[in-house]
Amino acid sequence: MAAPPEIEARVLELRATIEHHNRAYHELDAPEVPDADYDALVRELRGLEAQFPELATPDSPTQAVGGAVSTAFATVVHRLPLLSLDNAFEPAELTAWGTRLLRSVGDDQIHFACEPKIDGFAISLTYEAGKLVQAATRGDGRQGEDVTAQIATIDAVPDRLAVDDPPALVEVRGEVYMALSAFERLNARQLDVGLRPYVNPRNSAAGSVRQKDPAVTASRELGLWTYQLGFTEGAPPFRSHRETLDWLAAAGLPVNPEIEVVDSLEAVQHKVEAIQRRRHGFDYEIDGVVVKVDDLRQRAELGFTSRAPRWAIAFKFPPEERTTKLLDILVSVGRTGRATPFAVLEPVFVGGVTVVKATLHNQDQVRAKDVRPGDTVIVRRAGDVIPEVVGPVLAERPKRTKAWTFPAACPVCGEPLERVEGEADTFCRNAACPARTAGAIEHFGSRGAMDIEGFGEQRIQEFASLGLLRDPGDIYSLDWERIGQLEGFGEISIRNLQAAIEASKSRPLDRLLVGLNIRHLGPTGAQALAKAFGDLDAIMAATAEELAAADGIGPTIARSVRAWMDEPEHLAVIEKLRAAGVDFGRVAVPTAPQHLVGQTIVVTGTLERFSREGAEEAITARGGKSPGSVSKKTTAVVVGEAPGAAKVTKATDLGVPVLDEAAFVQLLETGELPA
Ligand code: IVH
Repeated sequence: MAAPPEIEARVLELRATIEHHNRAYHELDAPEVPDADYDALVRELRGLEAQFPELATPDSPTQAVGGAVSTAFATVVHRLPLLSLDNAFEPAELTAWGTRLLRSVGDDQIHFACEPKIDGFAISLTYEAGKLVQAATRGDGRQGEDVTAQIATIDAVPDRLAVDDPPALVEVRGEVYMALSAFERLNARQLDVGLRPYVNPRNSAAGSVRQKDPAVTASRELGLWTYQLGFTEGAPPFRSHRETLDWLAAAGLPVNPEIEVVDSLEAVQHKVEAIQRRRHGFDYEIDGVVVKVDDLRQRAELGFTSRAPRWAIAFKFPPEERTTKLLDILVSVGRTGRATPFAVLEPVFVGGVTVVKATLHNQDQVRAKDVRPGDTVIVRRAGDVIPEVVGPVLAERPKRTKAWTFPAACPVCGEPLERVEGEADTFCRNAACPARTAGAIEHFGSRGAMDIEGFGEQRIQEFASLGLLRDPGDIYSLDWERIGQLEGFGEISIRNLQAAIEASKSRPLDRLLVGLNIRHLGPTGAQALAKAFGDLDAIMAATAEELAAADGIGPTIARSVRAWMDEPEHLAVIEKLRAAGVDFGRVAVPTAPQHLVGQTIVVTGTLERFSREGAEEAITARGGKSPGSVSKKTTAVVVGEAPGAAKVTKATDLGVPVLDEAAFVQLLETGELPA
């Protein structure tokens, strides 16, 4: 069937767009769209080319690997091309791939290496007789750029291999990355000098490598993970991928400790899920899991297509970045009076939720990012982190937009806003500003404080606007008859809210203290005061010196608490709470016994009585640590159903005790390793 003209036009359009993005990404290190949007374009083009094969020409970007070679650096011809990887976006695609491989290799089993897919910058390192002689970028896969001087500045890149009898030549492939902590430091410096922050660690890593001046690269705190051998001469006769990785590690090259070889497709799925669950615990970004056939003989049998090996696939995590329209920038005023700008967005599904607004933090952040109403912006939501506007897509900025300016007056009460010299935040100083009082009431009822279920922002606003609620003390004497006449308040919802309010009267003292919204007093300080004084009246009667004498209370908190207690309007709130029968003297029982302090317990596999997070929490709540990998320092390894084979092997090798679930429970309860 010949392709209809509109399909042909769409294919041409897709190619032009993809090529444009390829240039932006590979040559300019300045991508304009999130990866997920790019992947969607490529997928659409592949789909159309598969449906109408006559449209699949060799010059299509679907046939190419990466971008062109820039002219700023000397060209390096790779001895073996640096190929790309095929992608899987659904677990089913991964299983389908594995099943296909099982059918094409003669054997009835394949071992798979599962590796975090590092979101960095691909690099090829050449060592001759153990000495680093060249570092090259991927470029278009056949030719890259010579960045030896730049790469040599990275601490993690050894100048010499730590092996006795180094091969004549080895080419090592890996990913240069910027750790999240380093990225934050870099962006803090950018903001300090009034420059636009970098969009993400990957572009910063790429930009840092492709610097003419190696001194700039050196200042960027880059890291490296190696994961593959390229061309070799005189290298040991490796039989498996695991052997090559172990050799790389022994030679002093960094190999990611998460890499694990498993023996079934089921175990691959488990490992993928495990890495995905923990991805935000790493200090570097990963965007998926690369699954590779471990046995090198099987690899040779499977071979390559023109752009990718058949023996590997990249499972890509769902996107955490998307583009959407920035409809407006508004300012909200919180309980402390802080005025925070936030983005009003066209709803966008990202990081597993639909995002409609995102904080822009403060005036300087808006200025640095220069986002403007009407812009198309990149929105990011990673893990449980609050959604963030990364920056504008400048190519799509409408004509005649103006930089956004911070309002001069509080949008809620109209009083002037004030920015303190030398600070980033702007404040409404009007203590009676309805936004501030509503914020304080909401905070009082919030989860970390008095935990009044069903008492959210909207209801509080509504009650406050009717004059039913002026401070937290009013919560306990609400006019229920009046509320019963409001729309949306049936008998049941009233009864539920009343019960939630009643229940809040017996919260522990530290939560009550948190709820009072005293500057500088957080949950830890509140616990310290509750423990030292036992009830609210004793705290109110104490001088600043007496408060500061409590364990864990410094002079700043002490002074702030004293000042708060001296305000007549605050005393009025406290008397309302007392009259309502709120418990002033309930001191929470201390948390779990701290008998795992100094111990490191690694959990692997599925446990019956704990989720993975639950087990880790049980360890940390008792003062212990629970990292993802086994080392000499590990106290014990807890092994559940389908454990990571590498962890168990390593534990046995290092003589680290291996515990089953029952022994783990005993350890939690007693702090002692079972005999
Ligand atoms: S193996 C022939 N392993 O992802 C196999 N690549 O989308 C080549 N990447 O070009 C790659 N982590 O830059 C491999 N553990 C890993 C990786 C990894 C990140 C990058 C690499 C590659 C790209 C493909």
